[in-house]
Amino acid sequence: MLAAYAARISPDDPLSALEVGERPAPQVPEGWARVRVRAASLNHHDLWSLRGVGLSADALPMILGCDAAGVDEDGNEVVVHAVIGDPDYRGDETMDPRRSLLSERFQGSLADEVVVPRRNLVPKPAELSFEQAACLPTAWLTAYRMLFTQSGLTPGATVLVQGAGGGVSTALIALGAAAGYRVWVTSRDEAKRARAVELGAAQAFESGARLPERVDAVMETVGAATWTHSVRSLKQGGAIVISGATSGPNPKATELNRIFFLQLKVIGSTMGTKEELERLIQFCRTTGVRPAIDTVLPLEAARDALAQLEQGEVFGKIVLTRP
Ligand SMILES: NC(=O)c1ccc[n+]([C@@H]2O[C@H](COP(=O)([O-])OP(=O)(O)OC[C@H]3O[C@@H](n4cnc5c(N)ncnc54)[C@H](OP(=O)(O)O)[C@@H]3O)[C@@H](O)[C@H]2O)c1
Repeated sequence: MLAAYAARISPDDPLSALEVGERPAPQVPEGWARVRVRAASLNHHDLWSLRGVGLSADALPMILGCDAAGVDEDGNEVVVHAVIGDPDYRGDETMDPRRSLLSERFQGSLADEVVVPRRNLVPKPAELSFEQAACLPTAWLTAYRMLFTQSGLTPGATVLVQGAGGGVSTALIALGAAAGYRVWVTSRDEAKRARAVELGAAQAFESGARLPERVDAVMETVGAATWTHSVRSLKQGGAIVISGATSGPNPKATELNRIFFLQLKVIGSTMGTKEELERLIQFCRTTGVRPAIDTVLPLEAARDALAQLEQGEVFGKIVLTRP
């Protein structure tokens, strides 16, 4: 079957580690299900994998892709929950110490078929297209958990989203605005700031700009480049919810004095549970909110698509499709 996969690891030139070509169709273990992939969206995770972050050489070759929407062997339209846990673990799957994300230990979704535990399948509602549904399991689920499970925010609160164009950022803007938060956004790019306002942000600012007032919470995925601004933008007692560090994990100034003196909270967040994915899908149905999709390409164009993601020339999600 056709697949986009990491054939090697390249920390400095991730695209040189990518191959788009034939891989054997996957075996289906007892209790698992085969899904014919109709759409799979890209995430920054795919670039990290090619760089060897979270993927070791002994796991190669590894098909990339965390997100999929498709059709199972019984003809049901499904969305794949990407957190693959220990079958005996009970409770919040994101806390399972043996969990992995699709494409870390088990072959990913940028392929004709993906095989996952049957319990990881969630029904796809008819009103979401395969392309839209394929955006939900990683970036959108992460944004949902950051905003609604971890932040402690209630509607009417002001939330700052660092970065405007990313998969997680665009989800944070759309979900936060639909939930009644006042969403402020930063971006390095003027055009992306304008798009963020169209998506529901109340205001958009240049990265690092002084805000009109301090905010109740900051949603961080950028890391080193925006961390100091995030800490300085918070009200006393406010919270930073962090799920990523695209620009690096070591900010120049960590602002520890400010964190303890103003009793700020720093809250880590990773992916989401299957129940949160089901609620996210229901949220989209109820509110009419849909993922911002930048580009839809066939799987054969995976190299161009990943190059676009690497260059940051994206507003929203890139989706790869199969017939
Ligand atoms: N913990 C989890 O479960 C989880 C889940 C999903 C994602 N993540 C992580 O979250 C991060 C974002 O993921 P994604 O898929 O949304 O990535 P993406 O689509 O590539 O988004 C990149 C974002 O980062 C911003 N950005 C990048 N470099 C920047 C810099 N130097 N200064 C300011 N802003 C910068 C961009 O903002 P502008 O271009 O608008 O300025 C853009 O919004 C990644 O690191 C990913 O690994 C973690």
